[in-house]
Amino acid sequence: MAENLIRKLEDGLIIRHSTKDDEEALVAFNNEIHSEGAWDKKGLEAWTRDLISGEGPTFDPGDFTIVEDMNTHEIVSTCCTISQTWSYEEIPFKVGRPELVGTKKKYRRRGLIREQFEILHERSAERGELVQVITGIPYYYRQFGYEMTMNLGGGRAGYELHVPELKEDDKEPYSFRPAGEADIPFLRSMYELECKRSMVNAVWDEDQWRYELTGKRKLNINRREIYIILDENENPAGFISTPPIKWENILVAENFEITQEQSWSEVTPSVIRFLWKTGLRLGEEQGKEQKMFGFWLGEEHPVYQVAETKLPRIRKPYTFFVRVPDLVAFLEVIKPVLEKRLLGSAFANYNGLVKFNFYKDGLSLDFKNGQIKAIQNLSHDALDDPAATFPPLTFLHLVFGYRTMAELDHTYTDCSVKDAEMGNLVNALFPKKSSLVWPIS
Ligand SMILES: CC(C)(COP(=O)(O)OP(=O)(O)OC[C@H]1O[C@@H](n2cnc3c(N)ncnc32)[C@H](O)[C@@H]1OP(=O)(O)O)[C@@H](O)C(=O)NCCC(=O)NCCS
Repeated sequence: MAENLIRKLEDGLIIRHSTKDDEEALVAFNNEIHSEGAWDKKGLEAWTRDLISGEGPTFDPGDFTIVEDMNTHEIVSTCCTISQTWSYEEIPFKVGRPELVGTKKKYRRRGLIREQFEILHERSAERGELVQVITGIPYYYRQFGYEMTMNLGGGRAGYELHVPELKEDDKEPYSFRPAGEADIPFLRSMYELECKRSMVNAVWDEDQWRYELTGKRKLNINRREIYIILDENENPAGFISTPPIKWENILVAENFEITQEQSWSEVTPSVIRFLWKTGLRLGEEQGKEQKMFGFWLGEEHPVYQVAETKLPRIRKPYTFFVRVPDLVAFLEVIKPVLEKRLLGSAFANYNGLVKFNFYKDGLSLDFKNGQIKAIQNLSHDALDDPAATFPPLTFLHLVFGYRTMAELDHTYTDCSVKDAEMGNLVNALFPKKSSLVWPIS
C-alpha cells in the first residue's frame, strides 16, 4: 500500500494508485456509478477489466487514482487517465484522456475529484501530454480548466422504410466479414483516408489496431466490431465498424470508409442492409428492439450526401472538453501547420508581431516572411495593441477549428478583433474545420 500512496486526506481517506488487486472492487464501483442497464453493465465490466489488466498498449494497471476510505477499505471515488497520441493536421501530440470519473453519493461535493484531477494533470504533464480531453457531463470539467471546443460524435439515422430494397433476383453486390489481424495494413490505409476529413485525429498504430481486433474483451463498451466490405470478387472495398452492444433500438456505423476505386452511392445501400440485419440479430441476442440504423460519423461525411433522403434524423454532435495547460508549447508543435495555412492565404510572407490578449495575460506570434520566429507568453503589461482579444480559454475554439473569429465575436461581447484585416489574418491561421476523433479507450 505505502508505495501506491499519493496523498492523505482528512477523515481517514487516502488517494493512491490502483493495482491489479483492485479489479473486482473497481468493476463493482464503475457498475454502481456509471451503468444504465444490464447490457451497459456487461460493457462497463469488460472495459474496466481490460483497463486494469494493463494489456492495452497505453494503459498501466496503476493508471487509476483511487480514493479509499481507510475506515472501511472501500473505494469511494476514482478516475483514470488513458494516455494516447493524437494529431493536428497530421502533426502528432500527446494526449491524456481522463475517464471513468465517479464518486459514491455519500462522498460527493467534498472535492475528491478536484484532488484527483490535480494529480492526474501532474502525471499527464510528466508524460509529456500537452493536451487533456474528456467526453464528459455538461459543464462539470470547465471547473478544472477545460473548454468545450471540439465536436464529439453526431450523425444521421433512418428507419426501416429507408432501408433500400434488394430486388428478388439481384445479388447483394457487397458482402461483409469480420476483420482480422491480417487486415491491419488495409485498415490503416482506410483510416488514413478517414482522417483526411478531420482536423484532429487519434493516432491508431499497429499495436492499437491489433488490440482492438484481438485483445479487448468482446463486450467492452468501447470496442468496435470491425468488418471488411468485400466487392463481388471478394476484394476489400472498404470497412465499417459497429458497437458490440446495441444502443437500444438503433444500430449505427461508427466508421465507414471505402477505397478510392469504389463509389459511395454503390456501396452505401449494401451497408444499410447489413446494418439493419445486424441490428435485428443483436436485438434478438440482447433483448432490444430494432427500429433504426444510422451513421455516427460526425457533422460531415460522404454518406450523408449520397443517402440524404434515407437519413432523415439528424443527431447534433456533443463536444469534447479540451484542456491545453501550456498554449505556447502546443502552438510550437503545430507551428508548421500555421505557417502552411498562411502561405496558402493572402497573408503569405507576412511580417509583424501578432498579439492575442486573454485579459489577464496573452501570447504573441512573431512573423518574419511568413515564418513564425517566436511564440511567447505575454504578461498583463504587454497586452497593448492586440490583434484580437478573448476571454480566457475561448481562444481554444479557434485553435481546434470549432468556431470562427466572427462566431466568437458574435457570441462573446468581450471577444473582439482589432480590424477587418486582422480578422482575415486570424481566419487564415485558424480556419473552421470539424473533427471526428476516434479516441483510444
Ligand atoms: C460528477 C461527480 C464525479 C462529482 O464528484 P465529486 O467528488 O462530488 O466532485 P468534487 O467535489 O471534486 O467536485 C469539484 C467541484 O464541482 C462541484 N460539483 C460536484 N458535482 C457537480 C456537478 N454534477 N455539476 C457541477 N458541479 C459539481 C463541487 O461542488 C466542487 O465545487 P468546488 O470545488 O467549487 O467546491 C459525481 O457526482 C459522480 O460520480 N456522478 C455520477 C457519475 C458521473 O456523472 N461521472 C462523470 C462522468 S463524465
